[in-house]
Order: sequence, then C-alpha cells, then structure tokens
Amino acid sequence: MIFVTGGAGFIGSNFVLDWLAQSDEPVLNFDKLTYAGNVNNLASLKDDPRHVFVRGDICDGEQVLALLREHQPRAIVHFAAESHVDRSIHGPAEFINTNINGTFALLEAARAYWTALEGDAKAAFRFLHVSTDEVYGTLGPNDPPFSETTPYAPNSPYSASKAASDHLVRSYHHTYGFPTLTTNCSNNYGPYHFPEKLIPLIIANAQAGKPLPIYGDGQQIRDWLFVSDHCTAIRRVLADGKLGETYNVGGWNEMANLDVVHTLCDILDSLKPKADGGSYRDQITYVKDRPGHDRRYAIDARKLERELGWKPAETFETGIRKTVQWYLDNPEWVADVQSGAYAKWVETNYFNREAGQ
Ligand code: NAD
Ligand code: TYD
Repeated sequence: MIFVTGGAGFIGSNFVLDWLAQSDEPVLNFDKLTYAGNVNNLASLKDDPRHVFVRGDICDGEQVLALLREHQPRAIVHFAAESHVDRSIHGPAEFINTNINGTFALLEAARAYWTALEGDAKAAFRFLHVSTDEVYGTLGPNDPPFSETTPYAPNSPYSASKAASDHLVRSYHHTYGFPTLTTNCSNNYGPYHFPEKLIPLIIANAQAGKPLPIYGDGQQIRDWLFVSDHCTAIRRVLADGKLGETYNVGGWNEMANLDVVHTLCDILDSLKPKADGGSYRDQITYVKDRPGHDRRYAIDARKLERELGWKPAETFETGIRKTVQWYLDNPEWVADVQSGAYAKWVETNYFNREAGQ
C-alpha cells in the first residue's frame, strides 16, 4: 500500500480518488482534518476496503511510525501542509509547525521505518514530497520560467515554510541516502478546491451575488494546472523518478488574475445566466493588495516531459469548464464547507475516537 498524508485536502483527495480509480493498491490516508481537510471529498470511498482513513497529525512522529510499522507501505506521498498564503500572513505559526516541524517529524519516522526494512522492500521504498513553485519567489515579466536549478527565494511565510521542508527532504537524501523525490508544482485548480482560493472563491461569490475581490491591479500572473494533471505527474515521478531529484510540474499556462476572473464570469454567464440579464463581471471589486504579493510564477516543466514523458492532458479552456461545471453540479459541497457543517460533523464523528480502520 501507499501512505498518503493530507489526503482529505484539495489535491490529496483528488490524488487518492484518482489512484484508486486506476489501481487496486490500497491507500492509508493520514490527515489531521484541519479546516482544509474534508472527509466529504472521499465519500465515494466510504465502503471501499482499499481506503483506510486515520485522523492524525504529521507532527506526531510516534503515531506515524506505529502506522508505518503496522501497514508496511512501499511509499509515502506527502501532501499535508498549511497551504493558503493569506492565512500564512495572518498567522504564520501553524505554517512553521506543520510544514517545517511536521515534515521533519514525518521524515524522522519514515527514516526509522525505512532503515529497518530489508532487501527489495528497502530498495523499492520512496518518499515523495509534494511542494510548490512558490519556493522560487517571483519573476519579472521577461524572466525565463522557474527551472529545477532556479535559486530558492521564498517571499511569504507559506513559501518560506515549504522551502524549509524541501531543504530538509533534500538533506535526508544527501546525508542518509533516504530515497526522496520532490515535485514543485504551479497553482492547481479543479474539484474540491477550498473556496478560500481564487478560482473556487470567485465561482462561489459570483453565484451568491457577492463582490469578486481582485487584489491590487489583478495583473499578477500564475501558471494554472488542472489538478488531475498534477496527480498524473506525481504518479509518474513516484514510478520512475530518479532518487534525490526534484521535478517541476506546470501547465504552460500563464494567466493574469483578472483574465482568470473574466474567464470564470464569462463561463458562468453562459452556463448560469444572471436573472437580471447582467454579467457576473459587474461584481468585480478591486481590493487592497496582498502584502509581499508575488508578481509572476511560471514553470519550466521540460525536465518532467523529457525524462518521464509527462505532459498536461488538459488545457486551461477544457479544465476550467470542467471545474465550473463541477461547482455548479455540487452546490451542497460548497454550502457545507461554508457553513462549517462538515467541521461540526468531524467533531461529532472523530472526537475521542481512536485511530484505526
Ligand atoms: P489543502 O490545504 O487543501 O489540504 C491540506 C491537507 O493537509 C488538509 O486535508 C489538512 O487537513 C491536512 N493537514 C494540514 N495539517 C496537517 C497535519 N499537521 N497533519 C496531517 N494533516 C494535515 O492543500 P492542497 O492545496 O491540497 O495542497 C496539498 C499540497 O500540495 C501542499 O503541500 C501544498 O503546499 C502543495 N501544493 C499546492 C498547490 C495548490 O495550488 N493548491 C500547488 C503546488 C503545491
Ligand atoms: P491563491 O488562489 O490564494 O493562490 P496563491 O496565492 O498560492 O497563488 O491566489 C491566486 C492569485 O489570486 C494570487 O495572485 C492572489 C490572487 N487573489 C485575488 O486577487 N483575490 C482573492 O480573493 C484571492 C483569494 C486571491
């Protein structure tokens, strides 16, 4: 089996669902269920014996090590993190705790488990660390995109904490020969994206008749990738990536935030026209910029294509349509997240409950 951390979050739950749609290899899904973790994302796996969910914190190395020894996974895929830049500005402590201390505790537990393995099991073991392009900092308009050799220059507490975790992972390979792989991916979008992030927030606010907040001038550029393409890339790297290497993952799709928001408004205008005949674009509202806001991210994903044959399957046009349609088809998912009902359910269901199957 594989051991996935953070598999109830946006990308992690997409990864677990994709994994079990394509293989019968079981998944142990280890997640703290913070505000960003949502077991509803995994509802379709409720009675699936291939999916074992355990609530826990990656900072708890003892619990992780006990689970590793019990379930004997052949790989760890590490998604668990605090992931929202704005939250990292308001409260960086939890980012330091989970992203740095948590990754350290996880590495220590994984190293102890791996050290005790023997023969083929030891040789086959992999620790895949899921990271972000934000560790490279920000680009000027004419700079080449980030490659795997671009120096790290993180600008937010979020990206700094991810950079620190990347360095720890790197050091475990170089110092202990621990079998690591790291992926640095650009901005994802798709189903189960928590509506605090730009794309799901705009889709939700538009339908609710609320303002569509644009930070600053809206000309900041992100390189958007449909989440299932990220999942495919992680599977490729896990299968054939070279130990100790890092791989950049991106969609070759740079867009200014304002253009993204215009696209979303136009798709919504056609799929769910406003009752008054107006456009959702009328709800766009400029708000004060994010402090230290990175101007441009862009990923050079040629290494992954050249060495492992990965390319994104979706264009932004196809992926964003699927995404908007998913949100239109799943209003109760958004309502649940926004009302906090799922968080209450989690308290009810997991409070005082022992870890287990
Ligand atoms: P998310 O915030 O949606 O989900 C994070 C998950 O981790 C949640 O289920 C949460 O409950 C869990 N978690 C948080 N702290 C934990 C802890 N201490 N122990 C165990 N579980 C914990 O995040 P996401 O957008 O799915 O991102 C997943 C990973 O991918 C992160 O490492 C992030 O840095 C990276 N990444 C994200 C993007 C993006 O666009 N969202 C892009 C590149 C890389
Ligand atoms: P976000 O989805 O938070 O991802 P990240 O900060 O990791 O790139 O934001 C994407 C871009 O959209 C970023 O440049 C900030 C901007 N943004 C807005 O303009 N308005 C918003 O309400 C949000 C949440 C983000």
